[in-house]
Formats: sequence, C-alpha cells, structure tokens
Amino acid sequence: MKFGTFDDQNREYVITRPDTPLPWINYLGCEAYFGIISNTAGGYSFYQDPRLRRITRYRYNNVPMDMGGRYIYLRDNTSGEFWSPSWQPTRKPLDEYTCRHGQGYSIISSSLKGVFASTRYFVPMGENLEVWQLTVRNDRGEALDLSVFSSIEFCLWDALDDSSNFQRNFSTGQVEVEDGVIYHKTEYRERRNHFAYFACSAEVAGFDTQREAFLGAYRGWDSPQVVEAGQCSNSIAYGWSPVGVHQVNVTLQPGEERQVIFLLGYHENPADDKFDPPGSQTINKRAVKTVIRRYLQAEEADRAFAVLKTYWGELLDRFQVETPDEHTNRMVNIWNAYQNMITFNMSRSASYFESGIGRGMGYRDSNQDLLGFVHMVPERARERILDLAATQMASGGAYHQYQQLTKRGNDAVGSNFNDDPLWLVLAVSAYIKETGDWSILDAMVPYDNQPGSETPLYEHLQRSVRYTVERKGPHGLPLIGRADWNDCLNLNCFSSEPGQSFQTTTNKEGKVAESVFIAGLFAVAGREMAELAAARGNSAEARELISQVEEMEAVVYQHGWDGAWFRRAYDDFGRPIGSAQNEEGQIFIEPQGMCIMGGLGLDDGKAEQALKSVGERLATMHGIVLQQPAYSQYYLHLGEISSYPPGYKENAGIFCHTNPWIMIAETLVGHGDQAHDYYLRINPSRREEISEVHRGEPYVYSQMIAGRDAATHGEAKNSWLTGTAAWNYVAITQYILGIQPTLKGLKVAPVIPAAWKGFKSTRLYRGVTYQIEVERKGPGNLTRLWVNGQAVEGNVVPLPETGVKDVQVKVELA
Ligand code: BGC
Ligand code: NOJ
Repeated sequence: MKFGTFDDQNREYVITRPDTPLPWINYLGCEAYFGIISNTAGGYSFYQDPRLRRITRYRYNNVPMDMGGRYIYLRDNTSGEFWSPSWQPTRKPLDEYTCRHGQGYSIISSSLKGVFASTRYFVPMGENLEVWQLTVRNDRGEALDLSVFSSIEFCLWDALDDSSNFQRNFSTGQVEVEDGVIYHKTEYRERRNHFAYFACSAEVAGFDTQREAFLGAYRGWDSPQVVEAGQCSNSIAYGWSPVGVHQVNVTLQPGEERQVIFLLGYHENPADDKFDPPGSQTINKRAVKTVIRRYLQAEEADRAFAVLKTYWGELLDRFQVETPDEHTNRMVNIWNAYQNMITFNMSRSASYFESGIGRGMGYRDSNQDLLGFVHMVPERARERILDLAATQMASGGAYHQYQQLTKRGNDAVGSNFNDDPLWLVLAVSAYIKETGDWSILDAMVPYDNQPGSETPLYEHLQRSVRYTVERKGPHGLPLIGRADWNDCLNLNCFSSEPGQSFQTTTNKEGKVAESVFIAGLFAVAGREMAELAAARGNSAEARELISQVEEMEAVVYQHGWDGAWFRRAYDDFGRPIGSAQNEEGQIFIEPQGMCIMGGLGLDDGKAEQALKSVGERLATMHGIVLQQPAYSQYYLHLGEISSYPPGYKENAGIFCHTNPWIMIAETLVGHGDQAHDYYLRINPSRREEISEVHRGEPYVYSQMIAGRDAATHGEAKNSWLTGTAAWNYVAITQYILGIQPTLKGLKVAPVIPAAWKGFKSTRLYRGVTYQIEVERKGPGNLTRLWVNGQAVEGNVVPLPETGVKDVQVKVELA
C-alpha cells in the first residue's frame, strides 16, 4: 500500500494522504538555519545547533506524536468554520491534500469546500530565515470572507533547559511587536545577543504572543480559542510561553487568489550594539528590517526559491545514472544523495528520532557521512575533516562526539571507542581521491583543540593507525574499548547496570575484550594509508603499514576465523563471540563485511564461504539482520546489545548501515546479482509498495528495519540520520556501478546484475564531466576501456590534461 508517489521529473515525493503511518518528514535549510518539517507542517527550527539555538519549540513523546509546528489556520468568516490546510492540527477532513517534499523545501496544498490553499516552506540560500509562502484561492462560485492565522511557539533557546527548567523559564519570556513583526527576545538583555522574528507580508488585523491567550487555557493547537472566535487578542507575553500569531483578513471574489508570506528568522547583533536607542530595553532591529522587507515580496521569495532549486539541481547533476532499474536511478540521482547532505549536516542530532538535545556531531558518524557527500561540496568536506581531526586527542584516540556550536569534544560521552580513530583515515583518503587536494595533509590541526598542539593532518592519520597497533589484546586482535562500530556490544561492561546505556557504563579493570571488526577496519584503513604514504614518496612507511596489515590478517585467520565465517570478537574472559561455539549470537554481519572489504579471504575462498553463511543465516526478504540467533535474554558480559528484544536494533535487527558492506563484499567476489539483490531489499523506493509494513518514509533510508525475530518484521525505524545513507551510496555507485574515485583518476569497474545490458552515467570529477557508457557483451565482470574512442589498459581513466572539460568513457563488460 502506498501513501504517495515519486515525481522524478521534479525530484519530489508527493504524499497524497496526510495520515501516513508515521510523520514523513523533510529538512529545510542546508547551511546554518535549519528546520524539520513533517507532511502535516509539524516540526521545528534552529540555528546551527539544535540543542543550543532552538528557535521553535517541539514536544517529544507527544500525543499525537507529531504536534506543534508551522501551522496556518483558515477561517470562513461567514460560517465560522475553521481548518488547517495542512490537515494537522485540526485534522478536519480535506477534499484534497498533497505534500510535495523536495530538496530543502516542502509544499503542502489542500482544498476544502472550494478554498484552495498551498504553502511553500523553504530557507533562502545564504539567509537565516524561513519563508512560508501561502497562496489562497477562492474556487467557490461566491465571494469568500476569510481569516488566515499563522502560528508558531518559540523555544527559549536551549532546548534541554526549555523542557525542564520551568521555575525559571515561566518568568523569562519576552517579546516586542512592531509594525506587525513579532520579535522573540527572551534573555536578550543579559546572556544573549540574538533574537528571532516572525513577520507577515499583509496588513495584520491582530496578533497574539501569549500562548494561552491564543489557544485558551484548556485547549490545544487543534482548536485555538482565537481562531474559533475569529479575532486575535493582541496579547503580549510576559513570561510563560511566547508564541507568534498573525491574523490576516482577506476577501476573495470567485476565482481570485491572494498570496500571504510569513517569515520566521534568526539574527545576532554585535554585543556592543544590542539596543536601539542604546541603553534602552528595545532590541536593535535595524539589520533585519531590510531582510524582512525583501523576502516579504513575492517576486523576491520566488527568486530565492528558484535559486534553491538551481543549487540543488546542480549538486545532484554532478552524478547521475541511467540504469535498467528505476529504484536504483531514483535513489542515486535524487534521494540518497539528498539524504547524504542531510546526514552530513545533522550527523545524528536532529530528526524525529533524534531529539536534537542528546547527540551532537558523532566522530565515527561524521567521518562516514562524508563518504557519501564529498563529491557534492568538497570544500565543506575539507572543513569538516579539519574540525573532526581537531577533536582528536594526542593519543590518537577521539572524542566520540562534539557540539556543533563549540566544536569541542563532549566530555560527558568521552572517548575510548576503539574504532573511532580509523574512520578519519577513510574520510581523508576519500577526500583526496575525490579532489586530488593533497594539501589537506599538510594542514596544521591541533589535538583536543589545544592551541600549540598543532601537527600536520598527516600525523593525525599516523596516530590514528598507531592507536590500533598499540592496543592489542591477548590474541593479538585490537582491543575493543568501550565498543567498536557496534555501540551496544559492550564486552568490558562487567559492572554495568541492566538497562544502562553505554554512556554510563563503568568498565571493569582489565578490559581485554578484542574486536575482529576493528581488525577488518584496520586492514581497510591501513591499506588506504599505505597508498597515501606511497603516493607521497614514503615507501618505507608504506611497506611498514602493509606489514602491519599482514600481521593483523594472520591473526584474524588464526583467531578470527570460525570455520565458515569471521568471528565477531573475544569477550573479557577470552571467549569468542560470533562463533558456532556460542548458543546465541553465533554469526554477526559486521566482520563479514569489513574483513572482506579489508581484503581478507579473497584469495582462499574464505570470503565466498563467509558470504554464503551470511546468505544462509542472516539474509531475509527485508534485508540482512545483524546477528543470529538473537539474544533471548540480557547478558551482563555482552551489555546493551542483549537489552533489546530479539529482532530490534543491534539484537538481530536489520541494522541497515551494515548491509552495504555485504553488498560491497559481494562485488569483491564478483557477485553482481547478489549485491544488487541485497541493495534492493532495503532500498526505500523499492519498499514503497509495502508502506503499511515499512511505515517510514519511502524516500530515505532508516537506521533499522525490524528483523525476522521481531513481531513487526519489516517495519522501519529511525529514518534519515544514519550511516546507511552514505554507505549505500558508496556500495551502489562505487562498487556495483563501479564508478570509483582513486588517487590516479576515475576507475570504472562495474559488477552489475547479469541481466543488465549496461547503463549510462554522468559524473563530475575534479572539474571534468565524464560521460560513461557501460555495455554488456558477455556475462562476466571483465572490463575493456575506451577513453574518447582510444583503447586504454586497465580500468582507471587517466586524468585528462588541464583545460579538458569533457571525457567520453566507454566500458565493455565480458
Ligand atoms: C543504540 C545505538 C546507538 C547508541 C548511541 C544505542 O542505544 O542502540 O544504535 O549508536 O545508543 O546513542
Ligand atoms: C548508531 C551510531 O550512530 C553508529 O555510530 C553506530 O555505529 C551504530 N549505532 C551501531 O551501534
């Protein structure tokens, strides 16, 4: 069952009924001002940091789940009937409804009894504000006397404090209203130099800024007293809960339409120029008046929207494919790339599953997000790499998270996730392969943001690798620390309390649990690093790295191979985890993917054997589960993983992030059909048809799909902010379609399904447009390459001479 449809031409998903199984959301903004918007106009906005600079309030654990947002009300003043053109919050049944989610904008349109209304929500490029562009049209045969009400609820900036510190906050709220613009200035007089504003393009017939004056003390957003009565009360908030509400009265003749624009914005004044006149209590509004005037004009708003469309069009056009499979095309060309940008911007901070107050930027997360994003805006990827490296510690270890606004490592979460450092190597290597910008390795970057501690970035990478080499356990495998990629496999957490998450776990002394996964990741990162070293002329260093990788491989073959698959780990008592010897958790997905990606088992059949085991034991029609058999009870020596009921999250859920590792591994052993089959199982577009089962948005990946042990097998959760986005993009584009940036140029080595006759692609790479055409001449994966009509040895397109803007690439598969 579907709740909408893809409009690939316009690069939109069109939701055609408002009661989607879960709120189906989108993001506004792609620079500094951001918002989350659901298909019924729910959600909130923030500037840079969803915890510390929250502009509008959002209640978690709400009932109904999605309540509070950017709501507009329409009131027919003749009948007194009122409704929400976005369906929520009044939920009055609409005659027609659509929500179009596009890249950085959403358009919600509806019709009720001949009143058509459409609101376009977006953030203009370069601005710290959002535009709500409302068009109302009278499709009745008679004149219409209408009132329009806008509404938002301000957050008192720090979202965590806002949801808990009521004894203070109920007395701090402050607003100013001038020329119909509502300014939210809580705490401006002492701690802050920023404020929010909410403006309207039409003459305002009234306003409200005190929530209870608008709603009524015992009412909710579904039936505001003011809207029912048809008249705002011009309330001014003193403390309590400041809101922004405008009332606009319009009379429309049959067929007539009117546009009303609302702007919600954020502004910071210089600390010494906060008041106007100086010394008064009145905020200095000079700077925002111009911007408000500008975007309240329909032509300016239209122009800004066109700029946004073009911006995204150009970003997406950098890499386009035309394959025989529509789900592949749609995800690669539009939605997966878009999700990559969102995960790059948000890390795991703000979604409908991440509260925006718990987690800032993840170190491991952001390094991986970059893999799917680096070709879109390489300059931002470079900046991010330097930010991440600056939170690395002198030991090579890394803070697990940092806060957007301060860019400082988060002490509360700390470090000691022993895989973290290695991901930086992958990110930097991907950046150089994409851009050829070797200078990044010489950029001076501090440790733990301490001035004076700077070294070249290259040394950060060296320390990352050394971090693993210096931390090996009894079997010679890398020590796992608090956890590796699997945050919930807490093998040293002997003294943790049941139900506690990893953040509060106290490790027992000793801590000798080891990770085969990190060994695999070390092989990946070590080889990347060796390539970088060799290319920089450090051949001795390159050799040393390769020998360290080989040493690690030997240990994995000896202690990490279980007979038919790679083991997962050794616990603190030296017992294997992810082994046939275990009763539960016999086989885990992560080491199969990562070890094979690190090159293990490719020569001696172990890789093939491991993948066969994955197919037999872990694969389901909804994707590949994380491990089997699921843990049936809580085990102290395993930690959080066994706290989840079977089939959910890390306890045998389909943790989608790991699936592309298996797809990649399948391509490495030459199985194009199997790789693409796994790709399709979790592809959201492919799953659109079963939206009643999947429940999440059909245009983006979710972190998890419930596994076969779950009662709700196939149900997705935690959409949007997941490493699944970047890794699926890497798997499909670089390994299945095989278009892969390397240090020497663009490689084209597809491992596609046997039934595909070929495919085409356009790829912008280092300023040159590559037109790629792949044609199947036989059933295998052997390639023959022609560049601009000339046969070329190997599968890497040599970098063209400077000045060349277009390259024609032809590949035959046999
Ligand atoms: C989740 C993990 C997540 C971790 C960190 C755990 O509860 O299961 O997926 O990485 O929390 O927030
Ligand atoms: C979510 C985290 O963001 C990611 O870093 C981690 O690898 C997975 N959970 C698996 O536990």
